[in-house]
Amino acid sequence: MNILVLGSGGREHALAWAIKQNPKCDRLIVAPGNAGIADLAECAALDILDGAAVVEFCGENAIDFVVVGPEAPLAAGVADALRAAGILTFGPSAEAARLEASKAFTKEICDACNAPTAGYARFTDLAAAKDYVTEQGAPIVVKADGLAAGKGVIVAMTLDEALAGLDEIFGGAFGAAGAEVVIEEFMAGEEASLFILSDGETALAVGGAQDHKRVGDGDTGPNTGGMGAYSPAPVLTDAIAEQAMAEIVRPTIAEMARRGTPFQGVLYAGLMIENGRARLVEYNVRFGDPECQVLMMRLGAQALDLLQACAEGRLAEVQPVWADDHAITVVMAANGYPGDYAKGSQIRGLDELPDDSLNMVFHAGTAARDGAIIASGGRVLNVTARGASLAEARERAYAMVDAIDWPGGFCRRDIGWRAL
Ligand code: AMP
Ligand code: GLY
Repeated sequence: MNILVLGSGGREHALAWAIKQNPKCDRLIVAPGNAGIADLAECAALDILDGAAVVEFCGENAIDFVVVGPEAPLAAGVADALRAAGILTFGPSAEAARLEASKAFTKEICDACNAPTAGYARFTDLAAAKDYVTEQGAPIVVKADGLAAGKGVIVAMTLDEALAGLDEIFGGAFGAAGAEVVIEEFMAGEEASLFILSDGETALAVGGAQDHKRVGDGDTGPNTGGMGAYSPAPVLTDAIAEQAMAEIVRPTIAEMARRGTPFQGVLYAGLMIENGRARLVEYNVRFGDPECQVLMMRLGAQALDLLQACAEGRLAEVQPVWADDHAITVVMAANGYPGDYAKGSQIRGLDELPDDSLNMVFHAGTAARDGAIIASGGRVLNVTARGASLAEARERAYAMVDAIDWPGGFCRRDIGWRAL
């Protein structure tokens, strides 16, 4: 099987790493890829937001299966273009990708299928939104409707923060994504993520994880794309996962099918857990980054069989096989992230690290220059390990972190603390 993975981050490195271990995989291309991915797959320059270009590339390279990593190509309809051209594809249609691309749409679906989530109201008018927020009081959550690279959400602990957030969104800080706002009830509790494959009909949970969104130890400082993750997440017990499947996920999948826009791909359900019950915070229509890295570390080669069964509409026939194990990933980021940071600093010591089924450094933002690996993004490396316990996995991961010589980067030292 010739396989094309779209994307260039740690998530795509982890997907490629798992896929490559499966004997079914003949040729593996990742577009555009990165310096770490280049160690195990061919990397190709390709505009992954251009459906026609991706279809043409697949024809030229006899691609049998495409796995779409990030949300942007999905929202842009790349999976639609591929399926229309008869190419087997993992990833939802643009219509189904609205579960991530529009927060108001997700609320509409939750209403239609009675899924537990925060109460909300929608506004396209600043004055009306301000009146509503003032009437409700803080804490309250203000969200730009559309895709804003994780930045369009203001969890306001005071009324002033909420009003400032509304000014920012309606002031155009997020462009068209902020033409509408969703204002939500603040939910207390502990967050966890559940990952579900769906072929449009069947929904199959393929693991849970918890990430660390704040940049600093002890969950302090500004929000980031995620500074580390681990799986399984103890807070997401089997009973809570089943409640989330029964009350949130399966009804969503059924409602999408009923509307004639079935969801096919991976649904990432962000859950808020309080008093033994989960409510939906948000959906994403792709694997989490860095959550994917820990899931792939645990699934290994079977990930390809699962993704393929999902794309072929055969999910009812497969089940993931879980070892009784734990995985953790520690994100190493460029100094300054998530604020301004420099690119181009050299990373040393990677070659001496183990890379096997227990230890793997996934690259998130690297490039090769004159035979050296340099940092080319904010989040740069995902140092990932597996073990019989979370403590063992964590020890392995930080041993690798300590062996990496990169003065230009930093990481949190407490990934996994909630579970340990
Ligand atoms: P979202 O992009 O919708 O996941 O929001 C980003 C983060 O904001 C979430 O991971 C939560 O930590 C927080 N958040 C979003 N909505 C709520 C809510 N209704 N109550 C409490 N926290 C929230
Ligand atoms: N780690 C959070 C995300 O992928 O959205």
